[in-house]
Amino acid sequence: MTKRIALSSDHAAIDLRQAVAKHIAAKDYEVVDIGPTSPESTHYPIHGKAAADLVANGECDLGIILCGTGQGIMMAANKVDGIRCGVCSDTFSAAMIRQHNNANMLSIGARVVGEGVALEIVDAFLDADFEGGRHATRVDMIEG
Ligand code: RB5
Repeated sequence: MTKRIALSSDHAAIDLRQAVAKHIAAKDYEVVDIGPTSPESTHYPIHGKAAADLVANGECDLGIILCGTGQGIMMAANKVDGIRCGVCSDTFSAAMIRQHNNANMLSIGARVVGEGVALEIVDAFLDADFEGGRHATRVDMIEG
């Protein structure tokens, strides 16, 4: 089944978010891009929570969020129950947060990585699957 991917960012990552949207739409993912589109300065917690809510309530399967560093928007997303989001600047970590941590959201820093690397990070995240087993025990411990 086609996976639905929630996308959001703050003002610092609009161009990269739009590049990610185009990249994954071409791979047959359904993209739910909730903006923003204006380059005006905005507040990353609003956008992190909005995308996280879509994943937590099941409207989207996974989420990809971006801000300048990826850190602030990740912190906001992780405040939503059921969200496990990691910031990645490399493809190994992006695959591992799916395989071992069952991350349902990925965060990227648009001021940290260039577009080429960012798109490879997105692919690594989306192509990987949770391995379950001993990792499920540990993820359950995070959820409490
Ligand atoms: C915005 O200037 C910047 O603080 C934000 O994009 C992000 O890096 C926060 O974590």
